[in-house]
Amino acid sequence: MKFNILLAAALMAVGLQAQANPIVIKYSHVVADVTPKGQAALKFKELAEKKFPGKVEVQVFPNSQLFGDGKEMEALVLGDVHVIAPSLAKFGKYTKQIQIFDLPFLFDDIAAVDRFQASPTGQKMLTSMTSKGIMGFGFLHNGMKQLSAQKPLGMPADAKGMKFRIQPSDVLEAQFKAVGGNPQKLAFSEVYQALQSGVVDGTENPWSNIYSKKFHEVQSYIMESNHGVLDYMVISNAKWWDGLPADIRKGLREAMTESIKFGNKVAYEEDAAFRAKVIADNKAKVLPMSKEQLTAWREAMKPVWKKFEDEIGKDVIEVAIKSNK
Ligand code: LMR
Repeated sequence: MKFNILLAAALMAVGLQAQANPIVIKYSHVVADVTPKGQAALKFKELAEKKFPGKVEVQVFPNSQLFGDGKEMEALVLGDVHVIAPSLAKFGKYTKQIQIFDLPFLFDDIAAVDRFQASPTGQKMLTSMTSKGIMGFGFLHNGMKQLSAQKPLGMPADAKGMKFRIQPSDVLEAQFKAVGGNPQKLAFSEVYQALQSGVVDGTENPWSNIYSKKFHEVQSYIMESNHGVLDYMVISNAKWWDGLPADIRKGLREAMTESIKFGNKVAYEEDAAFRAKVIADNKAKVLPMSKEQLTAWREAMKPVWKKFEDEIGKDVIEVAIKSNK
């Protein structure tokens, strides 16, 4: 009897403890809530907390509030944050193969990127960094990048001597060097200021980032170049993830898969709307590019493919080319 009472009390204490201490998941990113990544993160919070009321709490930190892009990967590996979704241009330190996503003019559009990511070659990349403590849940779209600058960039020669902000990617560095530009690796949170103050003359980003971070207010021209992709991998600390109870892991994975699907839908459906908003704001002039112009840019940047072929793998590049229909 006494034993039973003690056991019941102990079980109650454990139960209360579980109730009092939900599993806290910190999801940090660098963009605005309205973007595909911002919306995917909020969707994950909604779904995960609905599945595990009182047991799981997801804290979303947008706009580099918790960690900027220079620190978030390190923070994840150290266990200071649990989920992040860095741009695929920011994995260079961990895997060379993912550099494929930065090759200029490789993918025709997001649908082609989608097909490549869904291929066995693409899917393998999600687990390619587990030995480094990083586990990939899935790929998440943002969109095709547009070139922007203080002057029109009709032809590659127009970029000569200009300073461009780039993400920390050697491929992107080579891409701007190929047209005589002067690329500078800068954190995302510093881009607006750098453009405004003239530290750099131009940059590249998809419409949702341009609009939500007001880059169009500090750039005079945006070229509709669609010359590359800016996508993400949603990742977590592999050790932390493996240490979660199996039922929680299962439910969280479902919530994550669903949230990525949602983010990708936003990316597909809202890219044009963000473009329209930039045009409606009438701050930067949005210039279409002719076939001839695009061909000239493609030719000028093409040597970058060869330069990184060994690091990325010729076979991987071939799979990507085939994903264009
Ligand atoms: C950038 O640094 O330009 C992007 O990677 C930001 C982001 O996460 O979309």
